[in-house]
Amino acid sequence: MPGIFLNARFIFSKIGAIVTPSFDNSTESFLIIVSSKGLAAEGASVVVNYSSSKEGADKVVSEITGKGGKAVAIQGSVANEVGVKRLFEETKKAFGQLDVLVNNAGVYQFAPIEDTTEELYSRIFNTNVLGVLLATREAVKLFGDNGGSVINIGSSVTEVFPATSTVYTATKGAVDAITKVLANELGPRKIRVNSLNPGMIETEGTHSAGFIGSDFQKGIEAQAPLRRIGQPQDITPIAVFLASEDSGWLTGETLVASGGQR
Ligand SMILES: NC(=O)c1ccc[n+]([C@@H]2O[C@H](COP(=O)([O-])OP(=O)(O)OC[C@H]3O[C@@H](n4cnc5c(N)ncnc54)[C@H](OP(=O)(O)O)[C@@H]3O)[C@@H](O)[C@H]2O)c1
Repeated sequence: MPGIFLNARFIFSKIGAIVTPSFDNSTESFLIIVSSKGLAAEGASVVVNYSSSKEGADKVVSEITGKGGKAVAIQGSVANEVGVKRLFEETKKAFGQLDVLVNNAGVYQFAPIEDTTEELYSRIFNTNVLGVLLATREAVKLFGDNGGSVINIGSSVTEVFPATSTVYTATKGAVDAITKVLANELGPRKIRVNSLNPGMIETEGTHSAGFIGSDFQKGIEAQAPLRRIGQPQDITPIAVFLASEDSGWLTGETLVASGGQR
């Protein structure tokens, strides 16, 4: 039974698409159901990590268990050693093995260079970069002999370099680099590592950051070949593909999912 680790307020939220990938080398097939708050898997065991949104995590858990899957919500910040160690100790207690790690936790805040501070740098780097490193370090201890898939959620900002995004774009540039290094490092253990880099997606985060409805959004829509920003359901099937053995020959790749916007 595949084990999946993901963050609660997941980028792949708010749709009802159903796909049937086959994970790792198991012959067991199962449904992945993308629910209103996240990726739920039927026949899989899912750890739903949250930092502050217990309600969101509980909702994902009940959607998964309601469909016959197994899921637990575990609170913990990925931005520090203590939190991450505890998270994966709990994961081990709950399910033992992991096959898929989705490093989705991320924070963003844009600021002109004049307003860029050590505090801003530490806050964004600790979650977006240190979090990826620490979570991957702990997760790979739980991957089995058949390896698995690590999916790092980067961003298309590393293609478009928006003004005032220095710190955030720097974190996602680091994520792109981490993906390529870890693909080399973990490949011999059959662990694939890929980046999935969305363009602007309508999420709770982009609403609360004030991006939705802004001139920034309008500029992206004017430039993008498909003339719109993304919705979570644009990203979901790509993540499912990267998690499944259908992408078994891909590692160290950066898939830019931005409707063609560069
Ligand atoms: N939306 C976009 O336009 C866009 C585009 C490109 C890339 N991305 C990337 O996609 C990912 C998700 O973005 P989003 O728009 O869905 O953001 P969001 O709505 O703000 O959600 C952020 C998620 O990260 C979790 N999180 C934040 N800090 C954490 C920490 N220290 N430890 C554990 N979890 C933490 C939050 O958990 P709690 O709610 O429990 O705090 C929440 O589940 C991020 O990595 C972001 O950089 C987003």
